[in-house]
Amino acid sequence: MKVLIVGSGGREHALAWKLKQSPLVSRLFIAPGNGGTQEEGENVPIKDDDIPALTAFARDNDIDLVVAGPELPLVLGLNDSLAGADIPCFGPSALPAQLEGSKAFAKKVMFESRVPTADFQVFDDIIQARDFLDAKQAPIVVKADGLAAGKGVLVCATMEEAHAALDQIMVDKAFGSAGAHVVIEEMLRGQEASFLAFCDGENVALLPSSQDHKPVGEGDTGLNTGGMGAYSPAPILPESEYQRMADLVIQPIIKHMAALGSPFVGMLYAGLMIDQDSTNVLEYNVRFGDPEAQPLLMRLDSDLAEIMLACVEKRLTPEMVVSSPETSICVVMAAPGYPGTYPKGMEITGIEAAEKLSPEGKIKVFQAGTAMKDGKVVTSGGRVLGVTALGSDLAAAQKLAYQAVDAISFEGAYFRRDIGDKGLA
Ligand code: AMP
Ligand code: GLY
Repeated sequence: MKVLIVGSGGREHALAWKLKQSPLVSRLFIAPGNGGTQEEGENVPIKDDDIPALTAFARDNDIDLVVAGPELPLVLGLNDSLAGADIPCFGPSALPAQLEGSKAFAKKVMFESRVPTADFQVFDDIIQARDFLDAKQAPIVVKADGLAAGKGVLVCATMEEAHAALDQIMVDKAFGSAGAHVVIEEMLRGQEASFLAFCDGENVALLPSSQDHKPVGEGDTGLNTGGMGAYSPAPILPESEYQRMADLVIQPIIKHMAALGSPFVGMLYAGLMIDQDSTNVLEYNVRFGDPEAQPLLMRLDSDLAEIMLACVEKRLTPEMVVSSPETSICVVMAAPGYPGTYPKGMEITGIEAAEKLSPEGKIKVFQAGTAMKDGKVVTSGGRVLGVTALGSDLAAAQKLAYQAVDAISFEGAYFRRDIGDKGLA
């Protein structure tokens, strides 16, 4: 079959790498792709938010399955548009995609389906929002309702910060229309983990737990990023807990969306906050995480194309998803200055040498912000590479990943040295 992947990050390179291994896939396109996806299939110069052009390409090229990498095309209705052309899409239609597209919608669904989450209120009026802040007091979390490229959540330690956050969202409109509504919620403590499940609208198949590292600096300091590294499994959520967790945070959402007449088909990602005696959902995403996808797909032993087809054909069974018992870790190498401004066009060397460090194929360098220029791989974004390794345990995987990182260079390359340390502690 012919598959079109939408997106251009490290996650999409990992999806392309894994789908290419399937005997079911005869041709693979990636729109718009990056320097790495170009080695797995054919890049197509269409942006991930151009729904009409993506639909026309899929129709004109007899695409059998479209796989949405990021959330934006799904929230914009990619699935619905493709449905009009009878083309299956791995990724939910626009209404269930609101689980990620609107934090107010997600909180309402969580409340109605009894999924544990922080106490919250939604406001569109700033005076009422200010009164609520004053009544609740800091620490408190202020969130823009809509998509804000991961920047719309402000965790506020003081009342000054909380009022400034509210002004930034509702007065300065820092996130545009995404801030027309705000969610104000209780601050939760604990350790975060990611828990992802394939869904066919009714049935689910679980992936192992994973953990992202969002802040740019070591020891989780500094600004939040898209994610500086991830590993799987995350000891904070052990395998013995997966089924209980699925019953708590995945199944109720799948049932709720089906009851609304908008079954959820695709990847449901629960962002969890786990404390000694409680688990709460911070957010849902409607797609693979980036960088969680890299270690999760490195561990996946099953045929990804077969799983995705089973989802869109509503015949998913839990046994279809089998992961290697090994641990995988992904260390993100970023451009200097990220997540602020950064230079582009720096030549990257050592990718092949890094992968050759493991003749057994335990290292894979997934490319994110890269492009090909005059036959060379150059940087073209903030997160540049996701250097991913498999090991018998976390310590072994971590050691191998950093050996690979050390074999790669580009000017000013920045990465955290402590990815995985939390899992070792
Ligand atoms: P979200 O997009 O809702 O997951 O928020 C992004 C990040 O903000 C999360 O990964 C957490 O680190 C943090 N965060 C969000 N909500 C809360 C909360 N209620 N308490 C503490 N931290 C939070
Ligand atoms: N790694 C976090 C995310 O993909 O949203």
